[in-house]
Amino acid sequence: MNSQSNQRGQWASNIGFILAAAGSAVGLGNIWKFPYLAGANGGGAFVVLYLLMIVVIGFVIMLGEMAIGRKTQLSAVGAYKKLNEKWAFAGIIGVIVGFCILSFYSVIGGWVLNYIGKYVTGGIVGSEAGAYFGSFISSTTAPIVWHFIFMAMCCIIVLKGVSGGIEKASKVMMPALFILLIGVVIRSVTLDGAMEGIKFFLKPDFSKVTISTVMAAMGQAFFSLSLGMGAIITYGSYLGKEENLEKNALIIPAIDTGVAMLAGLAVLPAVFAFGFEPTAGPSLMFITLPSVFDAMPFGQFFGILFFVLILFAALTSAISLLEVVVSFVIDIFKIERKKATIGLATIIFLVGIPCSLANGPMSDFLIMGYNFFDFMSFLAENVLMPLAALSMCIFIGYVWGVDNAIEEITSGGRYKFVFKKFFILMIRYVAPVLIFFIWLNAIGVLPAIAKVFGIQL
Ligand code: PFF
Repeated sequence: MNSQSNQRGQWASNIGFILAAAGSAVGLGNIWKFPYLAGANGGGAFVVLYLLMIVVIGFVIMLGEMAIGRKTQLSAVGAYKKLNEKWAFAGIIGVIVGFCILSFYSVIGGWVLNYIGKYVTGGIVGSEAGAYFGSFISSTTAPIVWHFIFMAMCCIIVLKGVSGGIEKASKVMMPALFILLIGVVIRSVTLDGAMEGIKFFLKPDFSKVTISTVMAAMGQAFFSLSLGMGAIITYGSYLGKEENLEKNALIIPAIDTGVAMLAGLAVLPAVFAFGFEPTAGPSLMFITLPSVFDAMPFGQFFGILFFVLILFAALTSAISLLEVVVSFVIDIFKIERKKATIGLATIIFLVGIPCSLANGPMSDFLIMGYNFFDFMSFLAENVLMPLAALSMCIFIGYVWGVDNAIEEITSGGRYKFVFKKFFILMIRYVAPVLIFFIWLNAIGVLPAIAKVFGIQL
């Protein structure tokens, strides 16, 4: 370990890196968003498209980000800057995305904490689940207090550093999450009437597919794999030169996808078994599932299991977001980890306050028609994240160059690069074009054009 990596920290083992990076990837995106997106977009057909996106762009972009991070041993901004001064902006976009996402992600983390508290002390009555959720998130102080607790938990882990905090926490929480999830899946798929839900989730009906389904699948693939915001660049920068990047870039998406599929099997069969609609959208986890737990034997117990597993998933993702911002400040301003972490966690907590209030007292405060919470999410996920990913493809494909990337990926020829041709084709041509379209769609340009030509998206 050289002196620089001593200061910045490094993973103690490759398995530690895999669990931490998988921890970043597996989060609310898998357990909350994926089942509701599948539910709202026709089930199986969405799942097939999502898998396709993971294979076509997920693997390639993850590998690209890892290569940039490991090559430079610097976090997002420093990494781009070291390779080419003019491209620091690509890293800066990533850091802004991380910052924005964490501000509202932590608010949702707070909701999860509140639900754990609620289940430990008795659970939620099914018929009151909607009213409970609505009145909780729209109240002024309670969600902010829980948001504070969630942020404080992230802060404590990140304060302990890369191997002592993030790696250790992930090594405990990731296996625990997996075991809890399996428990909930077994319960869900063995309920009477679960088969309908399993069929809905796994049997594709392509007549339901529209361009928006494809776009939703692509956006979800990015969010779920933590791409386009410097998280994987940052985590890759703590990797030793002897590790096999290609193998890592195959394993992490495989774990992430496996967990998303299990989450679908945990949620949708139960929703069908109790006669609820799978199309509830974002409230599926906070309103529909509590109704399901209430109707189920030992529902309180399964409610606790489920929300604890979501907490673990959310925490390991949130710490990676905080680490993106913290490592940027450490690398660029040479500030101590402790000061950087506490200072940034405080700022992100403060920005999270209007996100939380946007669901209640500040709901009339709109930016471009969005409340503050939705605006942060729109700005980060729809506008900036695809832009960061697109910049990375162009950077690797045409500026830094695929040869340099390949040199890094193979550790200077030490490892065979099985998917080399695929990587080149994707990173130079296919991924940038696809991402450009996601972006046009997400910022509303594609829908506007479609409207002019009277095309249904
Ligand atoms: N991948 C996380 C999820 O699925 O919930 C969200 C996320 C974490 C996105 C970290 C980006 C990131 F850098």
